[in-house]
Amino acid sequence: MDHKQEEGLLSPKEHFRRSYDSRDSSDLDSDIDATEYLQSDPLTAPKGSYNPAYQTQPRNRWLRQPCCCCAGRSRKCVWTCLGILALVFIALGGGGFFAYKKFAAPKDGLSPPWYPTPKGGTARNWADSYRKASEMVSKMTLPEKVNVTTGTGWEMGPAVGNTGPAVNVGFPSLALQDGPLGIRFTDNATAFPAGITVGATWNKDLMYQWGNAHAIEARKKGINVILGPCIGPLGRMPAGGRNWEGFGADPYLQGIAAAESIKGIQDEGIMATIKHLVANEQEHFRQSWEWGLPNAISSNIDDRTMHELYMWPFGDSVKAGVASVMCSYNQINNSYACGNSKILNGILKDEMGFQGFVMSDWLAQRGGVSSALAGLDMTMPGDGLFWADGKSLWGPELTKSVMNGSVPLERLNDMVTRIVAAWYQFGQDDTERFDPDGPNFSSWTNDEYGVFAPGSPSEQEKVIVNEYENVMGNHSAIARQIAAEGTVLLKNEHILPIDRHGNTDMKLRKKHEGVVRIGIFGEDAGPGPNGPNGCKDRACNEGTLASGWGSGAVEFPYLVTPIDALGSGWDKDKVNVSSWLTNSPPFSEQPEILGNQDICIVFANADSGEGFVSWESVKGDRPDLFLQKGGDDLIVSVANGCGGGSGETIVIIHTVGPVIMERWIDLPGVKAVLLANLPGQESGNALADVLFGAVNPSGHLPWTIGKNLDDYGDGAKIMYLPNNVVPQQNFAEGLYVDYRYFDKYDIKPRFEFGFGLSYTTFNFTIPRIKEQKPKSAYPAARPRDFAMPPEYDPSIPDEDEVLFPPNFRKLEKFVYPYLDTVDEIIMDPYPYPEGYDVKQPLSPAGGDEGGNPDLWETYVTVSTNVTNTGARDGNVVTQLYLAYPPNASKTEGVDFPVKVLRGFEKTFLKQNEMATVTFNVTRRDLSYWDVKAQNWKMVTDGTYGFVVGESSRLLHAMAEW
Ligand code: BGC
Repeated sequence: MDHKQEEGLLSPKEHFRRSYDSRDSSDLDSDIDATEYLQSDPLTAPKGSYNPAYQTQPRNRWLRQPCCCCAGRSRKCVWTCLGILALVFIALGGGGFFAYKKFAAPKDGLSPPWYPTPKGGTARNWADSYRKASEMVSKMTLPEKVNVTTGTGWEMGPAVGNTGPAVNVGFPSLALQDGPLGIRFTDNATAFPAGITVGATWNKDLMYQWGNAHAIEARKKGINVILGPCIGPLGRMPAGGRNWEGFGADPYLQGIAAAESIKGIQDEGIMATIKHLVANEQEHFRQSWEWGLPNAISSNIDDRTMHELYMWPFGDSVKAGVASVMCSYNQINNSYACGNSKILNGILKDEMGFQGFVMSDWLAQRGGVSSALAGLDMTMPGDGLFWADGKSLWGPELTKSVMNGSVPLERLNDMVTRIVAAWYQFGQDDTERFDPDGPNFSSWTNDEYGVFAPGSPSEQEKVIVNEYENVMGNHSAIARQIAAEGTVLLKNEHILPIDRHGNTDMKLRKKHEGVVRIGIFGEDAGPGPNGPNGCKDRACNEGTLASGWGSGAVEFPYLVTPIDALGSGWDKDKVNVSSWLTNSPPFSEQPEILGNQDICIVFANADSGEGFVSWESVKGDRPDLFLQKGGDDLIVSVANGCGGGSGETIVIIHTVGPVIMERWIDLPGVKAVLLANLPGQESGNALADVLFGAVNPSGHLPWTIGKNLDDYGDGAKIMYLPNNVVPQQNFAEGLYVDYRYFDKYDIKPRFEFGFGLSYTTFNFTIPRIKEQKPKSAYPAARPRDFAMPPEYDPSIPDEDEVLFPPNFRKLEKFVYPYLDTVDEIIMDPYPYPEGYDVKQPLSPAGGDEGGNPDLWETYVTVSTNVTNTGARDGNVVTQLYLAYPPNASKTEGVDFPVKVLRGFEKTFLKQNEMATVTFNVTRRDLSYWDVKAQNWKMVTDGTYGFVVGESSRLLHAMAEW
């Protein structure tokens, strides 16, 4: 960045480096005072009052520190705040006591305490990186270690998350950026299709390519860590606001898609973050204060469901070597996810053998020492309980708590080592590939010049912050392919594809004076009034829908709308196209608009997004499963009026999730339905590919489309109103979400999970089974760790080491690791959570990255021959479902789903071509979580059934093992 120096400006990184490097500080101004960096001590307040037996972190942290805003201020302020809080409690907590009695003490086994945090550095795949990391970490000062674990604060650096560097040992500030659809808050980068569209491709290679292309762009923009992929929410509730960021409502599909995209990201050297751990299934009440309540919702989940459903895809992610895991905003069994020792220490780090680092979602950290002890390794964005206040729960507080012994030094060492090891693991020490100057764009301005830390009110010089580097390469091709392959053909009565001359398979094609008249209807076919980036974070539904909203959304470099691609794609001599890009065309006054068409293509959509912003009645989560903006009415009038009742209507849906189609799906005029999910920037082109037949559709539903919301069960309903001062959401349906629920209660869906038509047909042979290893109930004994975690000097450093270096230039609100004076180190005993002193036995399900290696061994292979029996070449998605032995419920004493997805493969077949598809079924695939043994258990009595087919209900043949 020489040009910056030529202009006599200090580059942002240079400012940053100099601020931290005491050797350089003498030549910098020292006249900027820090305001208040300190807050009331979050580490020493008395324990909360609820049943401590299951307490994995002090609950209701804010109760222990009742008025953070009053920190260090007058008693009057404290009493006023307490008064306000009391009123809030009386108002919100009517019945709270009874709810407390009912919910506050989770049943045994829900979230028992799990301490201490297992250290990283035990797995074979990471041994080398840990060796390098330990050399570096052993040279770090304590503030440097703290710096690496703590974000610098909201808008305190170019990315949405920035850590502090350890300058003297050469460890850079890390730049963390959303994900998962592309690079958020930047220019000249691809707006890829959403995760749900990727899931709908059922194409492992595209899952990989999606991650890989994203990572190439991230690296070129100077990002170290992508905040994606997203597998939580899993999709328990079809109206959940963020389901579209993930891959579909099934743990197996989510797990494979996550693992493939993680490999794609990390093969490029970028660290992937799998998020959100765990059970952040709805937006309402997901986060403290965002919904007016002081505490986030608690997702109350039993141990077996946690393992088989919600944690399952995290297991795949860890096995794939993911660098980072983001813990979520919500509570799990009444303990915040980022302070839940059972989830982080127990399941993630011990059982699954996770070797990377756990970062908090933005402000999801709710306690200082407690979260460190529970297994959190990095706090984001660095601010504490409230946005952008600079009052970190770590930073100087972590320094103090290590100095006074509340957080063991070895825990801090482990946190830092995990982060540094991940950096080495993906080769980010290679300065040729990773510019230590960090991002070449700013998340906070589109101007070329700006300040480094706009979140700080301190005066700063303006420097070049945006270099507008175009990193898109040829990624439009991959974006287009995913969008096309992720488009699901739901209905086709001989009309699709339509060729460019207007010909279709329809036998009775009527032509008007030799010309086919095609009308395109609906706002969703065209551009929004303010362009694709008209609303901040895409939080509105205007024009064609290509993405949901929130942190998962990106700036579109362009958006090819359906009308762009379909308006001009036809042979003009043979097709006459007209369009009404509104949802309320003047049909009643001018019925001829519809009457004068042979074919009508009608567009409608449904949008949702992240809960920090709403659009109309969609407050993150959708209020219902219907199409929005009058979409259902529009489709009904088009289908009934097209060609005066004899026209043929093609319905195109863009959506974040399932929509109820009952009002129109069976109308005689509706000849075809394409569900194009959220296609990203190449929307129109991809749709044209499918409509015109250049691409034979091969997308399959990543969730079930029911006939109404009730059909999904009570557990599928969003809690729109809090039922308690800490909203309590009991996942009482257990394993039975989406198709598992429909199967169990024998409910006929409109379109089942996995459904998707093609322009050709396929035939499957009866599966062949080959035993690879004999059945046995439990996995082999947990193996010994491959390596020993690094050991460090255990002595607490001199107090002087943690003080601000002389003449240090501070930016207000910026989170630093230093203290002003040693008097801040208060030696009070910390009230450790109940159970903290009881060392937990190691899980028999653990032993390596991804858990006990035996879980990943293939026990049986299932093969089938698939033949393309139709008249076109095309991709086939072969799906494998497993049924547990019929007597399993009796022999094991627990209930089992009718079937579960355990394999899928996409294969391209020319006409009449045959291919053999083979699935490797692992021990984990065959097992259920035995809560008593705390281990995965295979059913050894009776025979497993394996069914293959094209959806969860279109199953052609079964074999047994
Ligand atoms: C979201 C995360 C995101 C983070 C940073 C949070 O609100 O839940 O998914 O990565 O913000 O933008």
